[in-house]
Amino acid sequence: MSLTNFPGSANSSPLDPSITKVTIPALAEMKRQGKPISALTAYDYATARLVDEAGIDLVLVGDSLAMVVMGHDNTLAVTVDEMLHHTRAVRRAVRRALVVADMPFGSYHGTVGGGVANAVRFVKEAGAEAVKIEGPRVALVQALTEAEIPVIGHLGLTPQSVNRMGGYRVQAKTQEAVQQIKADAKALEGAGAGVLVLEGIPREVAAEITAELTIPTIGIGAGPECDGQILVFHDMMNLSFAPKAKFARRYVDAGALFRTAIEHYREDVEHKAFPSDEESYHLPSALKKEMQAERTAVEPFKQLRKA
Ligand code: KIV
Repeated sequence: MSLTNFPGSANSSPLDPSITKVTIPALAEMKRQGKPISALTAYDYATARLVDEAGIDLVLVGDSLAMVVMGHDNTLAVTVDEMLHHTRAVRRAVRRALVVADMPFGSYHGTVGGGVANAVRFVKEAGAEAVKIEGPRVALVQALTEAEIPVIGHLGLTPQSVNRMGGYRVQAKTQEAVQQIKADAKALEGAGAGVLVLEGIPREVAAEITAELTIPTIGIGAGPECDGQILVFHDMMNLSFAPKAKFARRYVDAGALFRTAIEHYREDVEHKAFPSDEESYHLPSALKKEMQAERTAVEPFKQLRKA
């Protein structure tokens, strides 16, 4: 590698040196400085651009796309190839945020070697800068760290465990479960995880884990004491066609905005109000006149033929 490829500071974006790229060490520094970390999911180029340009620190290509983009009932069906496809689109859009790819169900549940091989695909084939895996998979986190792949852990309500959990339920609600999740969090940190997502656990438990870890925690339904927060893009925009979860604040009703716009468009088409003359292309005026003159010249012959 030639250092001359990287003008400016060590972590400036190679594509735009004026942008300071968010990295895993940068997120750790934010925790040290007490600066909250903002994170959001994105699954395509357009929304990932909006998310990045709005200054969000971490963009997760979540396997939630199985539900909100592909319409499945849960996250289990999405494949590695489908996740790679969406990660590539997001990667092309993002300049500043850390791009994290969610490893889908089945892609790391066999051998550690198999999990590492799939994670390598996300880095090599889609440009992911970290991968996220659910559950206390300490050996895998260690192997990924040794393979130079930054890992984000995910504990608490882990949607890929929906069948084992018997539904989406708030976790860590007994003394035993609280001790277990705290031990799992410590073990993931020890194995090299760079960030930990905490989903669907009591605020008090998330606060204790956050205080005990040196790596940042990012909460979703885990209260305000986490070092950062993440939401599913479609939930915050009311585009997920699902009942609103307690924690999923809706910042805009994009569903209603889109629906109204689409209905106006349909009405305009049906009433021939779209497109207007201003929205149409025109011939150069000289050619238009020439064609008009030709039409006028042949008109008498047409009339004669009709008579
Ligand atoms: O897939 C996803 O969107 C996630 C977030 C909810 C953290 O895992």
